[in-house]
Amino acid sequence: MSTLSISTAKDVFDLLRDDLEAVEREFRSQSASEVDVVTDIANYLIAGGGKRIRPMLLLLSAKALGSKSPSRVRLGAVVEMLHTATLVHDDIIDDAAIRRGRPSSNTTWGNAKCVLAGDWLYMQAFAAALEERNFHVLDLLISLTQQMVEGELLQMQKLGHLINEEEYFDLIYRKTAYLFKVSMQLGAAITPANPLLEDQLGEYGRNLGLAFQIVDDVLDLTASEDVLGKPVASDLREGKATLAVIHALERGTGAEREAIRTVLFDRSFSRVPHAEILEILSRHGSLDYAMDTACAYAEAARLSVADLPESAAKAALLWMPGFVTSRDR
Ligand code: IPE
Ligand code: IPE
Ligand code: MG
Ligand code: MG
Repeated sequence: MSTLSISTAKDVFDLLRDDLEAVEREFRSQSASEVDVVTDIANYLIAGGGKRIRPMLLLLSAKALGSKSPSRVRLGAVVEMLHTATLVHDDIIDDAAIRRGRPSSNTTWGNAKCVLAGDWLYMQAFAAALEERNFHVLDLLISLTQQMVEGELLQMQKLGHLINEEEYFDLIYRKTAYLFKVSMQLGAAITPANPLLEDQLGEYGRNLGLAFQIVDDVLDLTASEDVLGKPVASDLREGKATLAVIHALERGTGAEREAIRTVLFDRSFSRVPHAEILEILSRHGSLDYAMDTACAYAEAARLSVADLPESAAKAALLWMPGFVTSRDR
């Protein structure tokens, strides 16, 4: 295989196989606590699978710059640990019962233990990052934490309200795209290179992360729980207006707007069924609009790395946006 012929998930996985296996080992060893419940919850989540996109991005970012630094494995584990901890907390906040095709950890262990286990895992990720003795790495992770928490809190403030696109993009940047951005920046931060490259790779992560969350929000409206492995139609039931819904709210008739408002306000489909909302969205091309927007961010991500020197890692970074916009889970 030519090093540049990266066109499938398997090609990317093959390219990163050794490093990803090392990241899994690192994650596992970082999750061992003297208190069994912490280890049990962490192991349960690790075993549940997950796409491992964030460590893949970090590894690809480092690889695209020619890094061989062993820090990439440790920091790859750090970003997946942070992600896992936020999933534990997110499922408590969203009162979700399924994650990665299995009962969510809060369903099995209860909210109280999961809040604390999530905190433990989060701080363990920071302890691992501290081993780098690199203030810039800590700076990135601290800003990330504040952005994610602010994103979740802003989202809560807006539940049940009609938000505009600008507010939506601000929310998804903070709660999701920032971690994609920092994963890419960390790959550059451990590689002695032109500091401008860190911004450039960060821009790739931001664009990809925005595309990723827009698609996540479309899948919430259109996917089946079996395939997605997590609850569907949950955003509306939680009072969250996502991009397609915002689009329809801006274009719908008075009655259509009222139907959407009713679901967001009731946080249930008891008065307006889910199928009726989907009909409104398709009447106005709102799902297509959201997917087109995701594709535009995916293209922006590709453009952000277009001028990097040719390499297998660059080819994988060019492949990733298409994977994100065509995924079904
Ligand atoms: C889920 O992220 C949380 C969001 C930001 C939408 P992923 O879809 O990457 O979750 P896993 O790790 O693959 O389960
Ligand atoms: C992602 O938003 C929140 C996180 C950053 C964890 P969602 O609430 O849409 O994520 P899912 O759909 O539960 O994975
Ligand atoms: Mg959720
Ligand atoms: Mg979601």
